[in-house]
Amino acid sequence: MKKPILITGASSGIGYELAKVCAAHGHDLILVARREEPMKALKAQLESAPPPVQVLTYRADLTCAATRQQLFDWTQTQTQGKPLYGLINNAGFGDLSEFAKADWDKIDAMLQLNIVALTHLTRLYLPGLIEQQQGRIMNVASTAAFLPGTYMAVYYASKAYVLSFTEALATELKDTGVTATTLCPGPTYSEFQDRANLGDIPWFNDSTLPTAADVATFGYSAMEKGQRTAVHGTPNKVLTFATRLLPRKQLANIIGQMQKDGLDTKITSEA
Ligand SMILES: NC(=O)c1ccc[n+]([C@@H]2O[C@H](COP(=O)([O-])OP(=O)(O)OC[C@H]3O[C@@H](n4cnc5c(N)ncnc54)[C@H](OP(=O)(O)O)[C@@H]3O)[C@@H](O)[C@H]2O)c1
Repeated sequence: MKKPILITGASSGIGYELAKVCAAHGHDLILVARREEPMKALKAQLESAPPPVQVLTYRADLTCAATRQQLFDWTQTQTQGKPLYGLINNAGFGDLSEFAKADWDKIDAMLQLNIVALTHLTRLYLPGLIEQQQGRIMNVASTAAFLPGTYMAVYYASKAYVLSFTEALATELKDTGVTATTLCPGPTYSEFQDRANLGDIPWFNDSTLPTAADVATFGYSAMEKGQRTAVHGTPNKVLTFATRLLPRKQLANIIGQMQKDGLDTKITSEA
């Protein structure tokens, strides 16, 4: 395969658009998610347009450790043991809820996907990248990584993990030829909002929100440059800078106020 990049969460949103951008730059692709149909349609689209690329799809629920190992073993056979060029850990989801009342199975799956799967896949694929002295890891965090996320406490904390982990990894990888980038999108149009029950929060319904394609183009460029942390868009850059100036308690209160509207609407509609 030609400079293959594996992208998790490639059946919709940012991952789907990242696949298009990577293919446009001539990378062969391994697309992973639970829904195979959208990935198969994307494979057909990408393989029938220039430049010529090979696209493989793999249906997997990445919350399962055994499935992640099977994915790794399968990719080894597909690439005849050759390491990947890139790994993009993009799959993730959030949930708006009061922590004391949150569904444990959902929280558990979120921790498994947003944190454990991302860490496990990095551990599985990274030695090959280091061995060939070139490669790219990109982990998708969020501007949430910089904030305490009242009413989405686990999601924000999971993204803080992704940021901290990837920043440290980037330093460990210095002089190896491999880089690690944390992509931090702010609110972006995708299926994320509906899955996270954020549809009633005004700033998630703003028609000026960036598209997943905007974020993917920005993310690919940051990954290729080997940038350590890439916050998408000027308002998000200002926001993440401002988080350094305010006390954490005040930030937690502000986020709580902003997200409470959506939570109240969710409770009313569930009653
Ligand atoms: N949209 C935003 O506002 C926003 C902002 C900041 C950060 N982000 C982050 O960006 C990343 C991509 O999100 P998105 O906005 O593109 O949302 P999305 O459209 O909901 O995409 C999420 C992707 O993750 C996959 N996925 C979910 N659960 C999975 C599982 N158990 N195993 C394997 N794949 C799974 C989904 O595919 P299947 O359902 O087919 O498995 C889908 O392809 C996430 O990490 C998210 O936290 C999003």
